[in-house]
Amino acid sequence: MPSAPVTALPRLVRTQAELRAALAVWRHEGHRIGLVPTMGALHEGHLSLIRRAGEEADRVAVSIFVNPLQFGPKEDLSRYPRDLEGDLAKCGLAGADLVFQPEPAEIYPEGFQTHVEVERLSQGLCGASRPGHFRGVATVVTKLLCLFGAEVAVFGQKDFQQLRVIERLAQDLSIPTRIVGAPIVREPDGLAMSSRNAYLSSDERRRALSLSQGIAAARTLFQGGETRPDPLRTAVLDRLASSGVRPDYVELRDPATLEPLAAAGPDARLLVAAFVGTTRLLDNASLGEGRP
Ligand code: PAJ
Repeated sequence: MPSAPVTALPRLVRTQAELRAALAVWRHEGHRIGLVPTMGALHEGHLSLIRRAGEEADRVAVSIFVNPLQFGPKEDLSRYPRDLEGDLAKCGLAGADLVFQPEPAEIYPEGFQTHVEVERLSQGLCGASRPGHFRGVATVVTKLLCLFGAEVAVFGQKDFQQLRVIERLAQDLSIPTRIVGAPIVREPDGLAMSSRNAYLSSDERRRALSLSQGIAAARTLFQGGETRPDPLRTAVLDRLASSGVRPDYVELRDPATLEPLAAAGPDARLLVAAFVGTTRLLDNASLGEGRP
């Protein structure tokens, strides 16, 4: 009888000192390092980034850190889903070699007072409803990029504004790590995978489909010749409303600058954030057919 494939668990390190020692060995052996920053509660979306990092580098490290700096005072920091054991097994199956899971004090020791602010890209969209969020993301990602010194770091387009903020900070601060943006992984019915989907009741899970369905409706309109932002946005808003989902924003933006557009072209990005019950979900896509 063929035996089940044996997958080694990745090495778990919790301190910067241990991490630097492990990375030094890899460097000495001439390996290219790929990094995938996460907050854990891993799903197929995260695993696709780990596999992508494995295609781009010889050794893959995943960070799991629920970053307190990017959560507002009324947000879900304390109840954010955590499952280290499950995450380690999934990381191993996806090909990760090392998992860095620090305590908050390891990242933000007493006296910490340096922050990274990506000015214009952090304003509007998620930045408007989550003040300080991107400052927290930019600060922790800068630290991780500096700490790992990886050749490549992979992020998801699921968090499209975040991806643009991270690309910008790497360029502006001369961080040599190449930033790769990977496509959104969806459930078979179209819902974008998210750790926060775990919060949804079965009724909310059904209603959450209105985000991807609204985007699909707007794409159909665009393919029929509509380029005015308002009718395209309204297609999404109508779908959200009919599912009892409260929009945070529905915006049509330039994919590079995230500035508003007067008319849509095939690369225009439709970005949606909406509350399904108390859970805030994101989705986005470009309007052109076949474009991610
Ligand atoms: P987290 O929400 O855990 O996401 C980690 C990475 O997975 C991000 O780059 C995110 O865009 C990507 N991701 C999430 N869902 C995805 C999906 N369905 N398809 C493809 N990629 C997906 O984003 C964060 O953590 C944090 O802000 C972090 C960057 C780690 C900084 O703390």
